[in-house]
Amino acid sequence: MKTFTTAGPVKPDEHYNIPALSRWDTDEIHRLIQEKRYFVLHAPRQTGKTTCLLALMAELNAGKDYTALYVNVEPAQAARGNVEAGMRTIVGVVAQNARRYLGDRRPGQWVDETFRESGSHGALQNLLSRWSEEDDRPIVLLLDEVDSLVGDTLISLLRQIRAGYPDRPEAFPQTVLLCGVRDIRDYRIHSDDNEIITGGSAFNIKSKSLRLGNFSQKDVMALYAQHTEETGQVFENGVMDYIFEQTAGQPWLVNALGYEACFEMRADQHRTRPITMEIMMEARERLIERRDTHI
Ligand SMILES: Nc1ncnc2c1ncn2[C@@H]1O[C@H](COP(=O)(O)OP(=O)(O)O)[C@@H](O)[C@H]1O
Ligand SMILES: [Mg+2]
Repeated sequence: MKTFTTAGPVKPDEHYNIPALSRWDTDEIHRLIQEKRYFVLHAPRQTGKTTCLLALMAELNAGKDYTALYVNVEPAQAARGNVEAGMRTIVGVVAQNARRYLGDRRPGQWVDETFRESGSHGALQNLLSRWSEEDDRPIVLLLDEVDSLVGDTLISLLRQIRAGYPDRPEAFPQTVLLCGVRDIRDYRIHSDDNEIITGGSAFNIKSKSLRLGNFSQKDVMALYAQHTEETGQVFENGVMDYIFEQTAGQPWLVNALGYEACFEMRADQHRTRPITMEIMMEARERLIERRDTHI
């Protein structure tokens, strides 16, 4: 049985969902990839960025043109400005995800050699370069949570990508998509020597920025219609308008209200009874009281 989810990326076979790739301009994304562009996707927390990136990876890998890999660099946040530790972590996640999502064990076998050859300020570039050379298809790298990194680790990541850029697509990824809550031009990075470096100057590749928006009212209705289809439970007139009004279509909030009203509260024992305005208003109060709106 499917439900509304509020815990991380949406899995279409487990959760009510709006098809992720319908939420942004897929034609434009394909065009940017075709043109070997590097670009930025940014939106506030809990908007559906990770869900979109995972869907894009699956779509690209199902086609024949590219090898796409999703990598969340957040684990390297703990390294703060320690480039050695940070890059070990990032390169490790690249290798781990190549194995997990693509069944490709080669990057994992190259890790030690890349650090020996290039040190921590070049290991990621070296690994991506070698992988691009040896893979049959151009690589599309989807880097998530980039702006969770800080200091010299972030600077080194951006500089290594910049250094490899001219070698694409034969010896570096054809496209790198940087995803985070801010536009890269707005990054202000404090290096260890107390310099403030802006993201734009560390990256220095003319990148396009795409923004992911909230759900439209049509999206909200389509999402809740999935609950009705799954369970037979309907929503009283006006409830959809109320939800859209209260959430402005913020994807996490839309799901949180639905989960609270249809699953958390007693309503789930009576699927034959509609979800009324009163239930929805109580769900809203409960959410506010719990303050678990981590957005
Ligand atoms: N395509 C979608 N359909 C329905 N709900 C979604 C969708 N994408 C995101 N959400 C909602 O947003 C929450 C956060 O999604 P996630 O992809 O982790 O966002 P982000 O990476 O921007 O923080 C999900 O738990 C879900 O409640
Ligand atoms: Mg995310």
